[in-house]
Amino acid sequence: MKIALVVGARPNFMKVGPVYFELKKHSRYTPLLIHTGQHYDKNLSEIFFEQLGFPKPDVYLGVGSGTHGVQTAKIMIAFEQFLLQEKPDLVLVAGDVNSTVACAIDAVKLHIPVAHLEAGLRSYDRRMPEEINRIETDCISSMLLTPSEDADENLIREGISKDKIFLVGNAMIDSLMQYEKKAERTSIINDIGIKKHSYALITLHRPSNVDDKENLEIILDAFSEIAEKIPLVFPIHPRTRKQLAVFGLEEKANAIANLKLIEPIGYLDFLKLEKYAKFVLTDSGGIQEETTVFKVPCLTLRENTERPITIELGTNQLVELNKDAIVQKVNEILEGNCKMGSNPPLWDGHTAERVVQVMDKFNYSFF
Ligand code: UD1
Ligand code: UDP
Repeated sequence: MKIALVVGARPNFMKVGPVYFELKKHSRYTPLLIHTGQHYDKNLSEIFFEQLGFPKPDVYLGVGSGTHGVQTAKIMIAFEQFLLQEKPDLVLVAGDVNSTVACAIDAVKLHIPVAHLEAGLRSYDRRMPEEINRIETDCISSMLLTPSEDADENLIREGISKDKIFLVGNAMIDSLMQYEKKAERTSIINDIGIKKHSYALITLHRPSNVDDKENLEIILDAFSEIAEKIPLVFPIHPRTRKQLAVFGLEEKANAIANLKLIEPIGYLDFLKLEKYAKFVLTDSGGIQEETTVFKVPCLTLRENTERPITIELGTNQLVELNKDAIVQKVNEILEGNCKMGSNPPLWDGHTAERVVQVMDKFNYSFF
């Protein structure tokens, strides 16, 4: 069986990695790794290949950045050529980025079944590009590999046949559990000059937060106040870095004493910073999940989340985009008012094994 596994943007690597390496253990499978090139900076791509131990991708499509239409179309054009040549038996896509939906559409139109890893998540906010990508991909996939029961319920509500839905757990947490020990050995906390449990970790890249000048200013004002109480470490996403420059807000950000703006960092360094943070403030999808497993309080700067289980069972809380609201939530955490939460079922480090079991039983001729 030839299985084509698609990666493109930062969060894909830690989700697809465990499945790729599990498939490699079984001689009946030939996994092929396709990198679309949606992310291309060393610290958003190559560093994860190195740290997660991937070989060079079998195919690199090199599409780069662009508007949604341009990027999605470029991936589709390039990936279709790969499919026509290689004719894989199954295409596995992960998560909700443009590479996910582009490659899924190509595959189904050539009658190649699609497996969607992390299927069924819904924010019910169609202003998010990722929500459109999730809905479209789920709609056309034959193997919907879900991380939690709420995802199954969402899919069933949308009329998707139960036969296609497989609750396997969270592949990203497989990576976390596999690399946690190695991450312990990094020196990032010393290198930055901070102390365990005495700093906050920040990541922000959602267009709703960073592509709007007023919103970005509110966030910086909140940081300014919070940084008086606790150092903030902010590995800044290139989208956010660019927007600070576009809005002329770089000086304002640089002027916040105690705000350590650094380049995006590798997975091992990031896991270590996450594990020992007093709290994490983010708008990332995956980081809501990782903080739940690390039992680190997470403030998610969004109106909604496609990962409600991280609120129900985990350490996550939504925070509205308002300076006082952000500062208040932070104060609550600093006063010790935060929940410990528990691990969602099947976020146990064995998701990739369950994915391969599903692939073993899948009827590849059924479409
Ligand atoms: C993408 C995903 C988002 C995911 C995020 C993870 C979509 C629609 N968005 O958002 O769901 O949460 O990745 O990090 O797929 N850039 C660089 N170097 C790079 C990549 C991007 O400088 O290697 C800059 C470019 O200016 C680019 C901008 O970042 O225009 C945005 O990149 P893009 O891939 O379009 O979206 P992300 O914000 O990264
Ligand atoms: N991450 C990382 N370095 C960073 C920021 C994040 O390695 O500087 C990792 C993080 O541990 C998680 C993943 O990237 O595994 C989350 O990706 P991102 O936030 O870019 O995307 P999202 O999950 O929002 O789609």
